[in-house]
Amino acid sequence: SITRHYKFEIKLKNVTRLCNTTSILTVNGKFPGPRIVAREGDRLVVKVVNHSPKNISIHWHGIRQLQTGWYDGPSYITQCPIQTNQSYVYNFTIVGQRGTLFWHAHISWLRATLYGPIIILPKLGVPYPFPKPYKQVPILFGEWFHVDPDEIINQSLQTGGGPNVSDAYTINGLPGQFYNCSAKDTYKLKVKPRKTYLLRLINAALNDELFVSIANHTVTVVEVDATYVKPFETDKLLITPGQTTNVLLKTKPDFPNSTFFIAARPYATGMGTFDNSTVTAIIEYEIESSPTHTIKKQLPPLNPILPALNDTPFAFNFSTRLRSLASLEYPANVPQKVDKRFFFTVGLGTNPCPKNQTCQGPNGTKFAASVNNISFAFPTTAMLQSYFFRNSNGVYSTDFPSQPIIPFDYTGTPSNNTMVINGTKVVVLPFNTSVEVVLQDTSILGNESHPLHLHGYNFYVIGSGFGNFDPNNDPAKFNVVDPVERNTIGVPSGGWVAFQFLADNPGVWLMHCHFDVHLSWGLRMAWIVLDGNLPNQKLPPPPSDLPKC
Ligand code: C2O
Repeated sequence: SITRHYKFEIKLKNVTRLCNTTSILTVNGKFPGPRIVAREGDRLVVKVVNHSPKNISIHWHGIRQLQTGWYDGPSYITQCPIQTNQSYVYNFTIVGQRGTLFWHAHISWLRATLYGPIIILPKLGVPYPFPKPYKQVPILFGEWFHVDPDEIINQSLQTGGGPNVSDAYTINGLPGQFYNCSAKDTYKLKVKPRKTYLLRLINAALNDELFVSIANHTVTVVEVDATYVKPFETDKLLITPGQTTNVLLKTKPDFPNSTFFIAARPYATGMGTFDNSTVTAIIEYEIESSPTHTIKKQLPPLNPILPALNDTPFAFNFSTRLRSLASLEYPANVPQKVDKRFFFTVGLGTNPCPKNQTCQGPNGTKFAASVNNISFAFPTTAMLQSYFFRNSNGVYSTDFPSQPIIPFDYTGTPSNNTMVINGTKVVVLPFNTSVEVVLQDTSILGNESHPLHLHGYNFYVIGSGFGNFDPNNDPAKFNVVDPVERNTIGVPSGGWVAFQFLADNPGVWLMHCHFDVHLSWGLRMAWIVLDGNLPNQKLPPPPSDLPKC
């Protein structure tokens, strides 16, 4: 293993999409940002220099950050943001992970333009558990906004209403030809016939889960969130924001057409703050130089069939089909016992409108989102620092979850439990606690799927279902044999999901909905995992260049 150095210079750049030029934040002037390539076991050293007018921090989404919690990146959790003309060197080793992840800004809505792939190759000499691909191609899904994404969320937070939706989805930064003034901005992937391509799909969109399909082709799913899965073939996929999916695409020997659309559009069951448009890229076969091929006339690209906007059965079936390899080389290390069980409700609610203000949320309130009715407020300093130097007074409190929440019919429509309380509360876990978490969607303001992401860990998804979680009957059906291991899971719309993880990484770890709108409204919480007794079970002191607030 080696050390790989990168330099990320954050700067503004004018970028034109849909005939509209906007000044956006970029890394090194690139949009989407540069790709990071490393091997399992390598150390990554990334110097981030902020030349932009905004405060920023970068999160290495899905990287476990074992004993390196200072480099995880969420602003006000593990670090203060990097201010204008300041820099911070992220320095961490990739332990026990290979596959596709991504990096993104972790403050306000700046990840709208600040994101890029992380490609982790297996250790030298270690093969993939699937046929070796001829080529590997990162495919990043994103959202394009004509205006500064910061302004959109700030307006929502001020007025209490829902934010404006994006102006387009993008594939590798390009919207494709179904948008106005965008035909030339289409990502094109040239392929050869009869080859195997590894497509590294990344959903970096802000607020939408996406259905993805390629016309006339099936793909084989082989990995999610940088963990291998039992391969299966499908013609449609679901990827939530924060999730990554590796698929093998076997190109055809011959074909009537030479061009095919890759298309994506949202899966949405919520309150309607989504953009219902379709993004496309093109797969173009290189015509082999035989006389019969050269005279073939180019037909328009074929369009795939995507599931309906609210196809919850497809979404649920796709998610539950994913199983870890659970092989000798790649075992599923599901904790055999559970030390602590948590039941968290996740969903939208409201806050009262401040006096002398008019609010645009439901019935004149402000939208808020919460975990167990607590809408998490970021402190003005970094929690990890307060924790490490033992001055948490006034920064956060550990009375969470303080008492069992009053149970109600989570999937009904109760009207008496919409108000949420603001607070900065954390759960404290002793080192090596084996944790089971049930996340229950509340339908207070309508059913909605929430892609929950846990920092610093992968977890095993042991069960899921619709309706209210039943603690007496559902656990009997948990899968502890080959549950998928991942870092982001969609809580089924009007349902629940259960997962397990071993708290073996000391630090402060954020868990949140990876819809940025819900994250901003407070659908987030934090875990503190205490040091263990052995030297290699402790969080070392912070680096000297850790930004100050
Ligand atoms: Cu990809 Cu806390 O985020």
